[in-house]
Amino acid sequence: MDVAAIIGSLRKESYNKKVVEFMQSRYERKMEIEILHIRDLPHFDQDVEEDPPQQVKVFKQRVAAADAILIATPEYNHSVPGVLKNALDWLSRVDKVLTGKPVLLIGSTPGMLGTVRAQIHLRQILASPGLSAKVLPGNEVLINFVHEKLDDHGRLVHQQTISFLDDVVNRFIDFVNGQT
Ligand code: FNR
Repeated sequence: MDVAAIIGSLRKESYNKKVVEFMQSRYERKMEIEILHIRDLPHFDQDVEEDPPQQVKVFKQRVAAADAILIATPEYNHSVPGVLKNALDWLSRVDKVLTGKPVLLIGSTPGMLGTVRAQIHLRQILASPGLSAKVLPGNEVLINFVHEKLDDHGRLVHQQTISFLDDVVNRFIDFVNGQT
């Protein structure tokens, strides 16, 4: 299963990125997770949406080709980071490549509840007509106090969290395969 991952943080030491990197290796036999970089996507501009800049074309093609999408994001000011919203705005237009695409939302935070509000907003955004993605239903997938759950190399080592992610990933694979 080809999974394209979009990370809502551009930070080099992003916890959300570290969790996705952990997932890349832990689930490599179940899914190939490719991180799509959104740093260089220009601001969405409706004037060029029919023939967007090359980075946007490549980004959309990768999303279209994936079997499923993983979105891992922090919460910024109680909502979705602008850089992620911008990427979604590009995806929502013209060929609307997220339509019907299975999406797994996850969020990691050093706090207690951060990312939950962002994930709730994301569900609303992803249900809009231009996006119409198929988001895994259920509770938000939140890894809180994440800084306490990584080792010195930034790898997730908290067994309870790893088991939780195992369950989520198995549920998502069934969802993608149409079994739930
Ligand atoms: C934050 N952070 C944050 N946390 C939270 O729980 N609720 C919030 O509304 C916000 N808002 C917010 C705004 C901005 C601009 C920044 C930079 C940060 C803290 C945030 O969750 C924390 O920095 C995460 O570690 C960011 O995720 P990455 O970069 O580690 O993936």
